[in-house]
Amino acid sequence: MELVQPIGIFDSGLGGISVLKEMRSLMPQEHFLYFGDSAYAPYGVKDKETITKRCIEICDAFVKQHVKAIVVACNTATSACVQVLRERYDLPIIGMEPALKVACELGEHQHIIVMATPLTLKEEKFAKLMRRFQDDHIIERQPCPRLVEIVEQDELDHRDVVIAQLQEYLYPYDLSTVNSIVLGCTHFVFYRSYFEELLPKHIHVIDGNHGTALHLQDLLTKQGKRCMIGEGSVQITNSKKDEQLIRLCEKLLGGPGYE
Ligand code: DGL
Repeated sequence: MELVQPIGIFDSGLGGISVLKEMRSLMPQEHFLYFGDSAYAPYGVKDKETITKRCIEICDAFVKQHVKAIVVACNTATSACVQVLRERYDLPIIGMEPALKVACELGEHQHIIVMATPLTLKEEKFAKLMRRFQDDHIIERQPCPRLVEIVEQDELDHRDVVIAQLQEYLYPYDLSTVNSIVLGCTHFVFYRSYFEELLPKHIHVIDGNHGTALHLQDLLTKQGKRCMIGEGSVQITNSKKDEQLIRLCEKLLGGPGYE
C-alpha cells in the first residue's frame, strides 16, 4: 500500500513545475500529484491569511488522495504558512526558501541579489534568514512580481517582454560587483537561460530546486517510503480548469530552454 502512495506538490501556479522537474529526474519512480493554484495566482502580492487559507484547502485535498508527503513548491506559501501546515498535518511537509546560504558559502564578503515575491521578502522567515548572513555579506532584496505574471500568462517566449522586464529589475545594481543572484521564487527558475545571457559571466545564478529535491529524497529514504519499482507518473491539475494551462505545464516540465 505504502509503496504506491503519491507525493503531493503545489504552487500558486506554474512555478512549482520547475521543482517537479527536478524531483522527477532525481526520483523517476515516484508518483507525483501536481496542483497549480493559477486561479488564485499571484500569491506574492496577497496577504498571509488569504494564502494560508488556500494552502490548507489544497493540502486537505492532498490528504484525501493519501499522499505520503507534501512539497510546498512555492517560497511565498512557505513563508506565509509552512509552520501552520506542519502543525496541522501528520506527514512530511517540505517547504522552500531562497537559497541564500548557498550564495553566501561561495566565499567571503559576497554581494548577493535575492529576487523573490514582495511577500517572501517582507515576511519574518526571510528576515530571520537575512540576520544569519547580513553581517558578513551585502544582501539586496529585489521584489519581482512581474516575473510571475509573465510565466502565468504564457509570455515566457516573448523575448522582448522578458528582456525589458529583467533589465528593469537589474538596472539599479552595479553588476560588476555582484557575485550571485538568488532566484527566490520557483517561477523565476524558468528564466535561467535569459539571466545567463544578460548577466556578466562571473555572476552565479542560484536556485533551491535541487537542494529541495535532495531533501525530499533523503526524508523519504529515512522513513522507508521511497518508491523504487516500476515507472513513476505525474498528474497535473489546476484550479483554473483550463486545458491550455495544463498543456503549458507539460511544456514547462519537458520543454527546451530549461535545464
Ligand atoms: N512561485 C511562487 C514562489 O516561489 C510564488 C509566485 C506568486 O507570487 O504566486 O514564491
